[in-house]
Amino acid sequence: MAVTAIRSVGVVGCGLMGSGIAQTCVQAGYEVVVREVSEELLHKGLQRIYEAWEMLVSKGRVSREQAEEYRQRLRGTVALEELASCDLVIEAVVERMEEKLRLFTALDRLLKPEALIVSNTSSLSVTQMAAVTRRPQQVCGLHFFNPAPVMKLVEIVRPITASEETIETVRRFAESLGKTPVLAKDTAGFIVNFLLIPYLLSAIRMLENGMASRDDIDTAMKLGCGYPMGPFTLLDYVGLDTTLWAAEAIYEEYKEPLYAPPPLLRRMVAAGLLGRKSGRGFYEYS
Ligand code: CAA
Repeated sequence: MAVTAIRSVGVVGCGLMGSGIAQTCVQAGYEVVVREVSEELLHKGLQRIYEAWEMLVSKGRVSREQAEEYRQRLRGTVALEELASCDLVIEAVVERMEEKLRLFTALDRLLKPEALIVSNTSSLSVTQMAAVTRRPQQVCGLHFFNPAPVMKLVEIVRPITASEETIETVRRFAESLGKTPVLAKDTAGFIVNFLLIPYLLSAIRMLENGMASRDDIDTAMKLGCGYPMGPFTLLDYVGLDTTLWAAEAIYEEYKEPLYAPPPLLRRMVAAGLLGRKSGRGFYEYS
């Protein structure tokens, strides 16, 4: 029997997505424990969250007291065991299946039997993650978009093993975060990345083929389609490594040339040009 009332939330991973997700959950009123693998990464992730709250205070969106109260409901740790009493745990670690499977196995051993485990994966199989646990009916995907505190959408990803009760509880949880959930089957890319990844890869191919410049492609999509960011700005924002992993996962499933990562993307990731987070991608950041 799965929990139906979520009070405490665990987030595993405090990178770009994990920190945004933890921040979102705290702001919605939950007690949150976030876990990173090292003190250094934990500090960096927590700093990102504290800076976001400082920004909200400086804009007058939340009071100083409210921001202080947020800080008190957020706890950082490097020990997975500290998530043991959580009602729901959100996995937001690196997009590598071996990592996810190791983590799901460990969480399953640690958590109370009724707790739910959800994955923020953008394209890997949630069914495979559910299958290494003894609670596959209580596992599904909950995919946030970057920046998590701002983007209104979440994709609820339904593995064939998930119970109706789990999907309903996660849907209510997503709504309590102020998000609009959509439901997708557990197929690579779900809804958004199935459509977004070929668009981003096509922009890279246009650049590789010299069809137009980086700036003109970005300007064209911003002003011609009303997108908030052009494809290269968005690639840098999402992270080139994340985009590559998503493309590989979808290509692996469908073998459609549309999803095959272009050589330039592979070379840039190999060179450590990952976008904003590494200081350089298609653009440079100081
Ligand atoms: N916490 C709380 N609020 C935040 C925030 C944070 N961390 N970051 C930004 N905000 C708020 C700002 O305070 C601001 O609020 P107000 O309008 O009330 O002042 C608002 O968000 C907009 O921020 P900015 O003014 O700084 O910047 P902007 O207007 O240029 O918008 C953007 C920035 C929201 C990122 C916008 O450019 C955008 O929507 N870009 C597209 C992002 C996108 O497509 N994301 C999906 C990527 S795909 C993905 O994530 C899935 C995957 O698996 C790869």
